[in-house]
Amino acid sequence: MIQVAIMGYGTVGSGVAEVIHTNREGIKRELKEDMEVKYILDLRDFPGDPEEKKIVHDFDIIVNDPEIDIVVETMGGVHPAYEFSKRALEAGKSVCTSNKELVASCGAELLETAKEHNVNYFYEASVGGGIPIIRPLNYALTAEIIEEITGILNGTTNYILTRMKNEGLDFAEVLKAAQDLGYAEKNPEADVEGYDACRKIAILSSLAFCHQVDYKDIYTEGITKITATDIKYANVMGRSIKLLASGRRDGKNVYAMVAPFMIDSQNPLYMVNDVYNGILVRSNMLGETMYYGKGAGKLPTASAVVADVIDAARHKGTTAKFLWDKSKLQVADIKHCKNRFFVRMEGSREEVLAKGAAYFGAVEPVASVVAGEAAFVTGEMEEAAFEEAAKKAGGIIGRIRVK
Ligand code: HSE
Repeated sequence: MIQVAIMGYGTVGSGVAEVIHTNREGIKRELKEDMEVKYILDLRDFPGDPEEKKIVHDFDIIVNDPEIDIVVETMGGVHPAYEFSKRALEAGKSVCTSNKELVASCGAELLETAKEHNVNYFYEASVGGGIPIIRPLNYALTAEIIEEITGILNGTTNYILTRMKNEGLDFAEVLKAAQDLGYAEKNPEADVEGYDACRKIAILSSLAFCHQVDYKDIYTEGITKITATDIKYANVMGRSIKLLASGRRDGKNVYAMVAPFMIDSQNPLYMVNDVYNGILVRSNMLGETMYYGKGAGKLPTASAVVADVIDAARHKGTTAKFLWDKSKLQVADIKHCKNRFFVRMEGSREEVLAKGAAYFGAVEPVASVVAGEAAFVTGEMEEAAFEEAAKKAGGIIGRIRVK
């Protein structure tokens, strides 16, 4: 019997218990051994819950029980999830987590701890919810040199941007509707400011480029400044605005950023809508591969955690290979990163296009959608050169990067 403990009985933790319970026979067939949840650690009690009797409030019960081989960490946040995970690994228990904050902050260290104790630290559910992306990077793509990994990694913001596009609404209106429907948190900052996507691209970049990419070094811009007028412009340009999180090699440099981009219908990420996530990997032999599916939600995320639990059971006594060295990869300052920019400027169409050409070089005009302003798209230019030109030109209402 494989005995599992779950730490954190929130949405994902309760989903893990449900997946193990519902698919118990299939898991048993796969492992030739039965699996059950023995303990659930939470500060709260859950009277009437089917797992009520398994609730414990003391982590020591789990860490000191030699029958527990695998611990699921679905607590979220860095503390005390870090201390509990570390102690569980040191006690010879594998840990499977959905906690992107912890993996982004301490993933490389916890992987090393796991290795020292002949167990595993698995984190498939920390990025892209139920979408397999960590395993493809760790196994299927190991013959490749990864040149770029770009994803729509946050379901909440993708839902908001999709509704803004489909219904012509402003950001604040859609955010409120998303909160009423439970798709956005009451405090939506981590999603709408891009912090959640930033943690996730830090994890993916660390794997893709084999060294620790610190999320604090990643330039991050959210979607709070995107307006209904921006969406109108995107529509006339045949483009969609998406919050992209990206890690990219450019010669000796690696650039990483999170920001809204206008993408066209040729881009495979164009069709990733609503709460779905999509991750596009470009590598040197294989070219582009795309990973798509439900990036959040109770059962999709829990399914990825339970797949890790099964893998941990299969790897009992050995540590699976991982591609994440704890030495730091210093990402380059984005000021030298090249992008094209969609720019909205006050004035008549003639004035705006003349100013655009004078300050930004050859620009592509965009059809007007509102009075009193006009817009254009610049050629490829370095971020710092764009900022400098924008400051000199003045009168800029907004700018969005174009891919
Ligand atoms: N808030 C996250 C999202 C949940 O919207 O994608 C999954 O990490």
